[in-house]
Amino acid sequence: MARRFDLLFRDVMLYDGSGGPARRGDLGVSGDRIAAIGDLAADSGDREILGAGRLALAPGFIDAHTHDDGAILCGADCMECKLSQGVTTAVIGNCGLSLAPAVMRQRPPAPLDLVGGPDSWRFPSFADYADTLRRQPPAVNAYALIGHMSLRVQALDFDVQRPATDREAAQMKAKLEQALDEGASGFSTGLWYPPSQAAPTDEVIAVAEALRSRGGLYVTHMRDEGDGIVDSIEETLKIGRDTGSAVVISHHKCMMPQNFGRSEETLALIDRAAKTQAVDFDVYPYPAGSTALMPDRVAAELPIQISSSEPHPEMAGRMLNDIAAEWGVDARTAAERLLPAAAIYFFMDEGDVRRILAHPRSMVGSDGIPSNDMPHPRLWGTFPRVLGHYARELGLISLEAAVHKMTGLTAKVFGMVDRGSLHAGAYADLVLFDPGTVIDTATFTAPKTPARGIAEVWVNGISSYMAGKGVTGATAGRLVTRNMA
Ligand code: ZN
Ligand code: CU
Repeated sequence: MARRFDLLFRDVMLYDGSGGPARRGDLGVSGDRIAAIGDLAADSGDREILGAGRLALAPGFIDAHTHDDGAILCGADCMECKLSQGVTTAVIGNCGLSLAPAVMRQRPPAPLDLVGGPDSWRFPSFADYADTLRRQPPAVNAYALIGHMSLRVQALDFDVQRPATDREAAQMKAKLEQALDEGASGFSTGLWYPPSQAAPTDEVIAVAEALRSRGGLYVTHMRDEGDGIVDSIEETLKIGRDTGSAVVISHHKCMMPQNFGRSEETLALIDRAAKTQAVDFDVYPYPAGSTALMPDRVAAELPIQISSSEPHPEMAGRMLNDIAAEWGVDARTAAERLLPAAAIYFFMDEGDVRRILAHPRSMVGSDGIPSNDMPHPRLWGTFPRVLGHYARELGLISLEAAVHKMTGLTAKVFGMVDRGSLHAGAYADLVLFDPGTVIDTATFTAPKTPARGIAEVWVNGISSYMAGKGVTGATAGRLVTRNMA
């Protein structure tokens, strides 16, 4: 009996997200789900797409690390940076920074202010945020973490340069519990950032205790990704063990020249720990990071590029040292004059980036910052760069492994049920791309350019991006919650 699908892909290379070898075949979609995979020659579709054995079909990519809490609410155009890369699901609320649950009486400290402008802090509970996602669906799926810094700034009434009292920690924990009950999936920290630095390990454990009974995930931008990286990994592992939760180390890296090459040591440490507790990590494919501009952290010998500045928007895209020379001041003074601002820091080694990316446990996350005027190119380029540059051009990993790091592996670590995989019954989050040409085009000087080779992208069965046309305007995204079908 011949079947009729809404959408039928004929003769595509199927990258199913498992990391196993791609295979030639057909795939049918009915409604928001994959209905069948295999030889569907006898069947037909309302719309048929011919792959000619050349085009690749993969599960929509999952961006393991984003700061899209605000951008995801502003319509399909704001998500072109994701959809044009094949991304169909974004993990929001990373690095301790989440838009919910939070109401701010004043401008929050950096980098929390990068997540949302003054009018954005209007979600007293996570349920309010989830409700907004239901009423005005986003263009990609969202998977939400609750940020420690967001909770902390409120619980300590902006007096963040000290540890929380037991009472304040209990208040943060209660808010986290409520948010997890309302559809959030985990807890994130950014212990490197000044507004969270004063939080001792015990404070984090007291709050993260909320994860235990709910099976939530602990995700962290660690206290130190430089000289103290080993201690920071140990701290992260302890927080995971003491709260009985799985941990994800965010944007794993080894910062500053004296630490270049130490990923050999850190990856071995993580591998050893993974034998007895759940620990994974994400990485972005560039030897430069980006966050708020912090004058205290300006190291004069390494290049820093300004990505936005409120008092001096004209300086976005320029190097801090050039601005300082033009102004006749030192780099630190120039940085202070540019605040509030964001920047790109060229503080990492390409060898470490490759070693971490090639590790079987690493997931791909962009860490893109959509609010910046001249953002780090990772915002638009991360996924096609891994596929085109690191897999195809350099042969660092196979294309199957690259797809796995952005789909099946990520879905498993985060507990996204029926996503990140091509199987009958899975959600039809799909990306059709040309494995022979897919590549990023975004650069540090022209960062907002769409990838080449991404042909079309579907979110929950709805076409949401087409090469040459851009976003279709569809807003078919949903809130995805850990371990929930
Ligand atoms: Zn971070
Ligand atoms: Cu981040």
